[in-house]
Amino acid sequence: MTLQIDLTGRNALVTGSTRGIGRAIAGTLTDCGARVAIVGRDLERSQAVAAEVGRGAQGFAADVSDVASVVKLVADVEAAFGGVDILVNNAGLTRDNLMMRIKDDDWDAVIDANLRGAFVAIRAATRGMMKRRWGRVINITSIVGITGNKGQANYAASKAGLIGLTKSVAKELGSRNILANAIAPGFIDTDMTAAMTPEARAAMTAQIPLERLGTPADVAGAVAFLASDLAAYITGQVLVVDGGMI
Ligand SMILES: NC(=O)c1ccc[n+]([C@@H]2O[C@H](COP(=O)([O-])OP(=O)(O)OC[C@H]3O[C@@H](n4cnc5c(N)ncnc54)[C@H](O)[C@@H]3O)[C@@H](O)[C@H]2O)c1
Repeated sequence: MTLQIDLTGRNALVTGSTRGIGRAIAGTLTDCGARVAIVGRDLERSQAVAAEVGRGAQGFAADVSDVASVVKLVADVEAAFGGVDILVNNAGLTRDNLMMRIKDDDWDAVIDANLRGAFVAIRAATRGMMKRRWGRVINITSIVGITGNKGQANYAASKAGLIGLTKSVAKELGSRNILANAIAPGFIDTDMTAAMTPEARAAMTAQIPLERLGTPADVAGAVAFLASDLAAYITGQVLVVDGGMI
């Protein structure tokens, strides 16, 4: 028998899945047999990506920085799929600046989307998971939530907050067979890192033992593992996917 990651019969909701890491997660979970809700702010774009992904994927629109929008998203996906078994909080944004120059709005925008958005999605989606006594919450944090980073106080705080949130959810919901873990990617080649100058990119690569930036697929593989029965005894953890960087 060949051991495989089999998510047949599982419904997954992946926020921010119209591009980058989220898009790769949606594709990999689908390849493993899950039915995936593709979520972006623009419904048409989500639907187009869902059509690309195929195999039952469906597009939804939500703004994760808006509480009501996230609550409605979970309700809509539950109505369409019959439940959410795997929740991947992937949507995230940066508003980088030196700490002294971060405006209140830039602080709030990052915390609201990256941290409160994940919390609201977890609060809404775990209700059904509790009833079904099975659930997986996977939060995409970042190595900077562990190490801190110059110019990213707001982003690092939101990602560190996600780690505390993950560990708390793991403790509260373990008895209901709901596992909560975080994945901390290092430097992954997406739109988020595309703005780096070639020099900055080279300097970054020099700090990575595997001598390359990560790919969205590198992160997606870790998500599929944590969503699967292979990870049935792992909860409250942060899995670092950074090519050995930190
Ligand atoms: N790229 C990296 O190096 C890296 C490293 C560590 C962690 N991460 C994290 O991985 C996740 C995905 O990042 P990415 O690199 O694919 O970035 P990206 O910018 O390519 O994609 C981010 C996704 O989140 C969505 N999003 C942003 N704000 C949103 C909002 N208010 N409502 C709904 N969706 C929203 C975007 O539309 C997009 O689909 C983020 O949480 C990011 O912080 C990325």
